Amino acid sequence: MHTFGYRANALLTLGVTILALMCAMASFSDNFNLPSPSAQVQVLNVNWFQKQRNGNDEVSLTLNISADLQSAFTWNTKQVFVFLAAEYETTQNALNQISLWDAIIPSKEHAKFSIHTTNKYRLTDQGSNLRGKEFNLTLHWHVMPKTGKMFADNIVMTGYHLPEDYR
Ligand SMILES: *[C@@H]1O[C@H](CO)[C@@H](O)[C@H](O)[C@H]1NC(C)=O
Ligand SMILES: *[C@@H]1O[C@H](CO)[C@@H](O)[C@H](O)[C@H]1NC(C)=O
Repeated sequence: MHTFGYRANALLTLGVTILALMCAMASFSDNFNLPSPSAQVQVLNVNWFQKQRNGNDEVSLTLNISADLQSAFTWNTKQVFVFLAAEYETTQNALNQISLWDAIIPSKEHAKFSIHTTNKYRLTDQGSNLRGKEFNLTLHWHVMPKTGKMFADNIVMTGYHLPEDYR
């Protein structure tokens, strides 16, 4: 005859085992989701473009960021962290990456959006490198699952230019 404690323990072990199995399956099933997000970003305006007193270039842009990240959401998705980075080359660095805007998308319903915004973080460069600079805008996203591993991906949008002159 088993004691109550023994049975409770067996039940708990079974419960934990089932939970662990469900987590593993949830995480595994995410591997079958092949997201196909889309993004477009337009630079609507260069609000100002200056050389600061310390000699660094700084630019303020108004952006129209549209994206559809709904396909990145599965039932195992907790939230998606998204950020837009300006990426460009200079003689000092092969890749300069500056985050301009970011957001946390809490649910699939919020994953299709179009936002009109100025850059939330300063776009500055150490030196006078930004005039006439060609740059890419890359939308990066990190999918944070309820259980299992996080994964990240991005969309690169090319062909942006900064003005030749300060304004
Ligand atoms: C922003 O971009 C979206 C998609 O390209 C477009 O439908 C919308 O009209 C744009 N908004 C502005 C203010 O340009
Ligand atoms: C922009 O992205 C393209 C494609 O990934 C890449 O070949 C190019 O070097 C990038 N340009 C800059 C300025 O980073």
